[in-house]
Amino acid sequence: MLMSQRVGGVRIENLKKQYGQGENAFLALKDVNMQVAPGEVVGLIGPSGSGKSTLLKCLGAIIDPTEGVMKLGDQVIYDQGWKVRDLRALRRDKIGFVFQAPYLIPFLDVVDNVALLPMLAGVPNGQAREKALHLLEALDVAHRAQAMPSQLSGGEQQRVAIARGLVNRPPIILADEPTAPLDSERALAVIRILNDMAREYETAIIVVTHDEKIIPTFKRIYHIRDGITYEEAGQGRPIN
Ligand SMILES: Nc1ncnc2c1ncn2[C@@H]1O[C@H](COP(=O)(O)OP(=O)(O)O)[C@@H](O)[C@H]1O
Ligand SMILES: [Mg+2]
Repeated sequence: MLMSQRVGGVRIENLKKQYGQGENAFLALKDVNMQVAPGEVVGLIGPSGSGKSTLLKCLGAIIDPTEGVMKLGDQVIYDQGWKVRDLRALRRDKIGFVFQAPYLIPFLDVVDNVALLPMLAGVPNGQAREKALHLLEALDVAHRAQAMPSQLSGGEQQRVAIARGLVNRPPIILADEPTAPLDSERALAVIRILNDMAREYETAIIVVTHDEKIIPTFKRIYHIRDGITYEEAGQGRPIN
């Protein structure tokens, strides 16, 4: 069964991540504190090397933090160690990733690229494709459902990648530079979709970006510098 119950946002407290040991030790995250409510889209901004990808990988259970606490809603997932037995299931059911490069599977058509994750989670193929089509419709690319990824424009590929990130309705979406390759209009369209999805599915969304086109849309922003986060109010400019 798909785990789609809402878990009520993300909380990160005093998170640290050290790479390497001894002389080679490097503290990439020194003190990360963050809170994202269900339905909220926050920006995460920082210079190259400041720890943005490291933070997303820790939260996405791709790498192990060194110290600190991470919670999904009321569930403590990390507290000086993982508190979840099956990290693969956590990644599959709770976390949606949207990367800068869409990484679509070249030999699957659009609908199957999106349907693959629910299929892997045990949803029957027909139902998985229905879910996929529904999202492709919401993202305005359903007319490309039978196309292969190589036949799509950059903007279409990115929308398909977003559909894939959302299809299991994860309570958390981690987006790393999702609008970098897009022009202004398409970038704002992607952010509008993420905001709509956040609201509709009560998803907590973290968007790593240095895209000046979309930064004014965030209501709240976390800056990260040398592995330390600082919170700031954003402009929350309406997207039309
Ligand atoms: N696997 C690794 N081993 C050692 N150091 C790493 C590793 N990955 C990242 N770093 C270092 O951690 C710091 C933060 O990297 P990263 O999280 O990729 O930053 P950002 O995504 O903000 O550019 C950088 O100094 C980087 O060199
Ligand atoms: Mg990075």
